[in-house]
Amino acid sequence: MPFPFPDVSDRTLADLLSLRGRPAVITGGAQGLGFAIARRFAEAGAPVAIADINGTAAASAATRLAGEFGVATTSIEMDVTREESVVAGIEAAIEALGALSIWVNNAGVFPSAPADRMPIDAWDRVFEVNTRGTFIGSREAAKRMGPDGGVIVNIVSTAGFQSPAPGLAAYVSSKHAVRGMTKAMALDFAPLGVRVIGVAPSYVPTEGNIAMAQAMMEQAAAAGIEVPPMDVMSQSLIGRVGTPDDIARVALFAASDLATIMTGSVLLADAGETI
Ligand SMILES: NC(=O)c1ccc[n+]([C@@H]2O[C@H](COP(=O)([O-])OP(=O)(O)OC[C@H]3O[C@@H](n4cnc5c(N)ncnc54)[C@H](O)[C@@H]3O)[C@@H](O)[C@H]2O)c1
Repeated sequence: MPFPFPDVSDRTLADLLSLRGRPAVITGGAQGLGFAIARRFAEAGAPVAIADINGTAAASAATRLAGEFGVATTSIEMDVTREESVVAGIEAAIEALGALSIWVNNAGVFPSAPADRMPIDAWDRVFEVNTRGTFIGSREAAKRMGPDGGVIVNIVSTAGFQSPAPGLAAYVSSKHAVRGMTKAMALDFAPLGVRVIGVAPSYVPTEGNIAMAQAMMEQAAAAGIEVPPMDVMSQSLIGRVGTPDDIARVALFAASDLATIMTGSVLLADAGETI
């Protein structure tokens, strides 16, 4: 018998958008898209846990959000690839925030190498973080969401729909898997009252991908290879590249009761690049 997701048609827009009383954990929330998502969630009133492999950065992100929005926040040093780390982190978040209503699988890595030269360790790491990490986090979160259910938001990528650039075989494969997992978990978790929604951004400058692009340019320069600058604007239909906050607002919609009708879908947040 499916969980009866309530009909919310008589509630106000402001109430539907509010995340007050809905504790949220954002993996990889110390910087980049994860921090932008945590920030909008906190503004919407959610108590927020920043879970990141970088515990120091997670702590300062959590402190910053508490100061800015006056919500309860906590930080957790968590490696999403390790079951025991995820379980301990979720329990710590529930202890600190009182419950768990929203889980965002955002932690991700994106090393780039042509498929004919990609070391197997790099392939495995991408799948460990992006795919295995999403599976472990979702499984452990869904069963702790309580009688009112909750929402899992998976940060996919347009790389879950297409292969947007060379050198991304592992990343593209891992994100296609997360897109598939979003559908499979929506089915499995519906009886628990848990919606599962994906958000698929196109390229957005963040600390992580700026550093990666820099490292690639330096490696190429050291090898005497001339690499043309990446044309990230070539397919945007909105006249600019997306920002972390563009993605955070879509994640907020997905997590809020505005999106009660949605589960198992992946929302393209891509400036029209994937049409
Ligand atoms: N930025 C983009 O252009 C873009 C586009 C599409 C999808 N995405 C996806 O969005 C997510 C965030 O990307 P970003 O650009 O903000 O990256 P980022 O590198 O700036 O931030 C990623 C965060 O995840 C953390 N992290 C890494 N491995 C972890 C682990 N094992 N356990 C816990 N935390 C870990 C890092 O410490 C970091 O704080 C990723 O899943 C990425 O694939 C990004």
